[in-house]
Amino acid sequence: STASADGHEDFLDCLFHELHNHNNSISNVVYTPRNSSYSSILRFPIQNLRFTSESTPKPLVIITPEHESQIPPVIRCAKANGIQMRTRSGGHDYEGLSYVSEVPFVILDLINFNEITVDAEKKIAWVESGATIGSLYYRIAEKSPTLGFPAGVCPTVGVGGHFSGGGYGTLLRKYGLAADNVIDARIIDVNGRTLDRKSMGEDLFWAIRGGGGASFGVILAWKVQLVDVPERVTVFTIQKTLEQNATQLVHRWQYIAHKLDQDLFIRIILTRLNYGQDGRNMTIVAAFNSIFLGGVDRLLPLMQENFPELGLVREDCTEMSWIQSILYFAGFPIESREILLNRTQPTVRYFKAKSDYVQKPIPEYGLEGIWRLFYEAEAQEAVVIFSPYGGRMDEISESALPFPHRAGNSYKIQHLVYWEEEEAQNSDRYISWIRRLYSYMALYVSRSPRAAYINYRDLDIGVNNNEGKISYARASIWGIKYFKNNFNRLVRVKSIVDPNNFFRNEQSIPSLH
Ligand code: FDA
Repeated sequence: STASADGHEDFLDCLFHELHNHNNSISNVVYTPRNSSYSSILRFPIQNLRFTSESTPKPLVIITPEHESQIPPVIRCAKANGIQMRTRSGGHDYEGLSYVSEVPFVILDLINFNEITVDAEKKIAWVESGATIGSLYYRIAEKSPTLGFPAGVCPTVGVGGHFSGGGYGTLLRKYGLAADNVIDARIIDVNGRTLDRKSMGEDLFWAIRGGGGASFGVILAWKVQLVDVPERVTVFTIQKTLEQNATQLVHRWQYIAHKLDQDLFIRIILTRLNYGQDGRNMTIVAAFNSIFLGGVDRLLPLMQENFPELGLVREDCTEMSWIQSILYFAGFPIESREILLNRTQPTVRYFKAKSDYVQKPIPEYGLEGIWRLFYEAEAQEAVVIFSPYGGRMDEISESALPFPHRAGNSYKIQHLVYWEEEEAQNSDRYISWIRRLYSYMALYVSRSPRAAYINYRDLDIGVNNNEGKISYARASIWGIKYFKNNFNRLVRVKSIVDPNNFFRNEQSIPSLH
C-alpha cells in the first residue's frame, strides 16, 4: 500500500540520516529489495521452507549491523515511522517470527555479531548473539577438552533466540538449560541504551533468560558459565521396531529415564519405517539415542541395573570426547569438527512442530494410538522425540527463570512433521495431520495449562492481535502455556522496559500500558 511505501521511504531517509551522522559507512549494512544481495541475505539462515514462498511477506529493508552503534538508529527510525522491527540471530524460529510479519517491517539481522571469547581458566565465555551454538562448542573445545556447555543439538541454531527461550540439549539432566548457565548479558533497550546485568537490573535479566528476547530488546551478547565434562563420554543408539518390542520398551522408558543418574541421558526418536516390496509394510522405529558422561565400564552396570530390557552391550557403545559427541548427535562424522563452524544446514525442509510435557506415563494402548497416526499418509516423514527431564531440572524452581517446566515433568515431547518441495501446495494436509496428533495426545500430557516450549514456537496455541494495543487476555492464552505463572511477571517487566510495545510480534509479551 501507499502508506507502507511512504513509511518505507521515511524510514530509509531517517536511517541514512542517522547512520550518516554517526559517521558510519552503510553500504554493507542496509539491503533494500533493489539490492542484488537482498534475497540471498533474507534467505540464507531460514530453516523452515514454509516461509520462503512468494506470498510470504518480505521486509522493507534488512539491516546487518557491523557495530553496536548502528543498532539504536534502526530502533529510533522504526519507532518514528511506525514500522515493526524483527531481530534475527540464527533464523531458526519454527514460525519464522524473526523474519516474517504481516505488517510493514524491517529485519535487524545480527549475523555479523558472532564473536566468541572463551576463558578456560575462569570457565566462562562471552558469546555474541549471532554466533551459532556449534561455533560456541567448537571454541570451547579448542581451549579445553573437559569443558562444555549445555545448549541444543543442532549446531546452526543461533544463541540470540536459543538462550533467550531456554535452550536445551543432551547435558540437560546434568546442567539444566542454556539459560540456567547465563551469568550476564548485554542488551540494547527500546531507548537505544546498552545495558548489562547490573544496569538492566535483575527483573529484565530474569526475563531474557527464557521469556524470549524478542519482547524486551536486542540482545547483543551473553556471558555464560562453562561446565565440566569428562575427557571421555560414551554414546549409543539402539533401534527397536514394534516387532522387537518397541512399544514395551518405550513404555518402560517412561518410568526410568527421568530418574537415572544425572550423567545419563537417553532420548527416544520415533519414526515410521516402510519396508518390504514397494514399502507396503510399515512399522515404527524407536531409536534410543544416548550420551553418558563417563566411560563404558561405568555405563554398562548402570544400564543393567536400571534398564536391562534394552539389552545394551559393550559393542553398542562408543567412547569419544564431548565435542565428538556433539557431532554424533548432529549426525555428522565425529572427526569433522570444522563442520561446527559452518552456518549452513545440510538439509533445510518444510515442517511444522509442536511440543508437550508429560507427567504420567502414557499406557501402552496410548502409545499404540500414536503409532496408528504414524501409519497415515501424511506421516511418512513425521518424527516424535521424547526427551527425558529429571536430574538438575528438578532442582531448579519453577520461578527461577521464565521457563517453568521443571520438577514433576518426566519428559518433553517434540512432535514434527516434514514434507518435500513437491508437496508445498499441500502443506495444509501435513499441518492438519500434526494437529490431529496434538488433539489425540491431549489425554496423556500436561493440562491446565497444556504446557509448551517457546523455542518450539507454535502459533496454533494462540497469537496476539496484530493491531492496536495488545490484549492481555488474548496473550495469556499462549503465555500461560509457555510460562505458567511466570507470565505475569514477564508482563510486569515488559510494562516497565517497553511500555509502548515497540518490540512486538505474534507472541510478544504485552505491556499493561
Ligand atoms: P531466530 O533468529 O529465528 O530467533 C528466534 C526468536 O528470538 C525470534 O523471535 C527473534 O526475533 C528472537 N531473537 C533472535 N535473536 C535475538 C536477539 N539478539 N535479541 C532479541 N531477540 C532475538 N531448541 C532447543 O532448545 N534444543 C535443540 O536441540 C534445538 N534444535 C533445533 C534444531 C533446528 C533445526 C531448529 C530449526 C531449531 C532447534 N531448536 C532447538 C529451536 C531453537 O532453540 C529456537 O528456534 C531458537 O529460538 C532459535 O534461535 P535463533 O537465534 O536461531 O532464531
